[in-house]
Amino acid sequence: METTLRIAIQTKGRLNEDSILLLNESGIKLIDGKRRLISSAKNFPLEVLYLRDDDIPQCVADGVADVGIVGKNEMDEQKKVVEVIKYLGFSKCRLSLAVPKDIEYPGLLWFNDKKIATSYPAILKDFLDKNGIRADIHFIAGSVEIAPGIGLADAIFDIVSSGSTLVSNRLKEVEVVMKSEAVMIANPLLSKEKQAILDELIFRIESVENGRGKKYILLNAPNEKMEQIIKVLPGMTSPTLMPLAKPGWSSLHSVITESEFWEVIGNLKRNGAEGILVLPIEKIIF
Ligand code: PRP
Ligand code: ZN
Repeated sequence: METTLRIAIQTKGRLNEDSILLLNESGIKLIDGKRRLISSAKNFPLEVLYLRDDDIPQCVADGVADVGIVGKNEMDEQKKVVEVIKYLGFSKCRLSLAVPKDIEYPGLLWFNDKKIATSYPAILKDFLDKNGIRADIHFIAGSVEIAPGIGLADAIFDIVSSGSTLVSNRLKEVEVVMKSEAVMIANPLLSKEKQAILDELIFRIESVENGRGKKYILLNAPNEKMEQIIKVLPGMTSPTLMPLAKPGWSSLHSVITESEFWEVIGNLKRNGAEGILVLPIEKIIF
């Protein structure tokens, strides 16, 4: 039987869409994943297991899944024996303490003898211990943000992303305890065959990442201006030059990052570049 790698991703929620998108961008086609516990890939030795995010670290530690994509928050909370393969840079959020918005918050000491509702008791306990605060930690699995409003707790410790959940529950963020993002984790004892599949998957993901924020640029200019134009272009390697049918003119191809885009374009125009084309890049293989 051919070896397949089994990856656990979130069924629904903040990580689900971006995890599937990452697999798609890596050229992996899933056989209609929705509404199934397991789906497999058509063109890559991969099986996808859809789980609640809270269940992913355990499943990977047990070997039910070989790898998983989960929030760093969930991984840190559960302290399971898994290997961190790669931070993925999406689903960024923070874990924060929040209090009712009308409280005049004097600093961490406020939390002494207060009741704090959270789904992340271990991370919270570490933080409070480190800061010498004695508070009563009250575990709730979901809808943590309603706890203060219904008198179940004085404050909450929860995920904050846009902050709109806090606002609509009349809460304000007062301490950021940790930053989180999606992370790929793996079982520490993968077979050689599975490790090889994982290496290929990581190679593909990194090629997608390398292309992110980068643009392919083409432009035409008179040959005598090219030297100056090339100085303006911080290309990843030396740019490609090709002669145009128009005598004395060439076409130049290079890669620029999106952040320097407007500055570079202005400089190029001032230096005589014409017909500038900027195209998206899907992948870059180094
Ligand atoms: C988290 C958290 C808040 C919300 C914050 O829930 O519990 O409800 O996101 O996001 P915001 O700052 O953008 O409003 P999540 O969607 O992860 O679901 P879960 O808590 O049920 O896992
Ligand atoms: Zn959750």
